[in-house]
Amino acid sequence: MNDFIKSTKNMSEAEIENSLRPNCLADYVGQNKVKNALKIYIEAAKKRKEPLDHVLLYGPPGLGKTTLSHIISNELGSQLKITSGPAIEHAADLAAILTTLQKNDVLFIDEIHRLRHTVEEILYPAMEDFSLDFIVGKGPSARNMRLKLQPFTLVGATTKAGNIASPLRDRFGIIERLELYESQELADIITRSAKILDVNIMPEAIKEIAMRSRGTPRIANRLLKRVRDFAEVKGNGIVDLDICRQALLMMDVDDKGLDFVDRRLLERLVVTFNGGPVGVETLATSIGEEIATIEDVYEPFLIRLGYIARTPRGRVALEGAYEHMHIERKLN
Ligand SMILES: Nc1ncnc2c1ncn2[C@@H]1O[C@H](COP(=O)(O)OP(=O)(O)OP(=O)(O)O)[C@@H](O)[C@H]1O
Ligand SMILES: [Mg+2]
Repeated sequence: MNDFIKSTKNMSEAEIENSLRPNCLADYVGQNKVKNALKIYIEAAKKRKEPLDHVLLYGPPGLGKTTLSHIISNELGSQLKITSGPAIEHAADLAAILTTLQKNDVLFIDEIHRLRHTVEEILYPAMEDFSLDFIVGKGPSARNMRLKLQPFTLVGATTKAGNIASPLRDRFGIIERLELYESQELADIITRSAKILDVNIMPEAIKEIAMRSRGTPRIANRLLKRVRDFAEVKGNGIVDLDICRQALLMMDVDDKGLDFVDRRLLERLVVTFNGGPVGVETLATSIGEEIATIEDVYEPFLIRLGYIARTPRGRVALEGAYEHMHIERKLN
């Protein structure tokens, strides 16, 4: 373990993110509903010596979808192949990947909502019958061919379940939604990460970071790393509550974990649009962000805080938003 801890000092951010990934369900914090269900399905599949049914994981970024796909393949004791929707340009590319799969392997397709339609069509018979349908030759001599594939498990991940065509969605036997994490769960994740990264951190500082991580493990880990940097340069390396608060202030992360963009969004909604309702397109333009970024990254947590709501007529600010921004609500 010691060698491993020392070696994290010279690792890149991406390598560190990988080193922080839990490898088995037991180390995966929170998401109990998803974990308990997967545990049963995985055990049953192993008992029957069959592949696990196809799994679709959805939810906001940084909640552990990619991590779960690794864990699923580890728990099954099978190989994992990783690709993503935008990376597969042609149907033939996907066909090539599918033919290399071995019995009960796991194929992970990240951002599966971005698969091209022509590629998606290859996937249907592959998921359903473990077969590949294609046409050989051209014109009158063209023939349909069917190639048998090894049985495999597709794990798809997406932040946008609504963007997945229903014929594709219907072919997943297991569909699980990941939820934002509770503070205590984030505290457990930070405690675990601090151990792996050898960060000396006080329990109050762990709590503080957990409360400001927007329910998201990736943010919790990122704040932990930045707070550690701050403690090493401005302090004696120990992360106590005071150092932690100073670092978060410098990063412009407020007491609820909201950053500059969150606050600007709230400010526009409350002040410029007088609390709404306002369409997400208009809101996006006014703060200079993509609609998808607002919908996937910012809104889930603001909704969870009870600061904003999505209504059929657009976004509206709720009481909490006014309180947080210290702005008095004007009654029309
Ligand atoms: N349940 C968990 N327990 C411990 N650590 C977690 C958990 N979920 C996520 N993490 C940590 O958070 C980081 C981000 O997780 P991951 O990359 O799996 O998110 P994601 O849902 O795939 O995000 P994206 O939608 O952006 O691809 C991982 O490096 C991992 O260390
Ligand atoms: Mg991912």
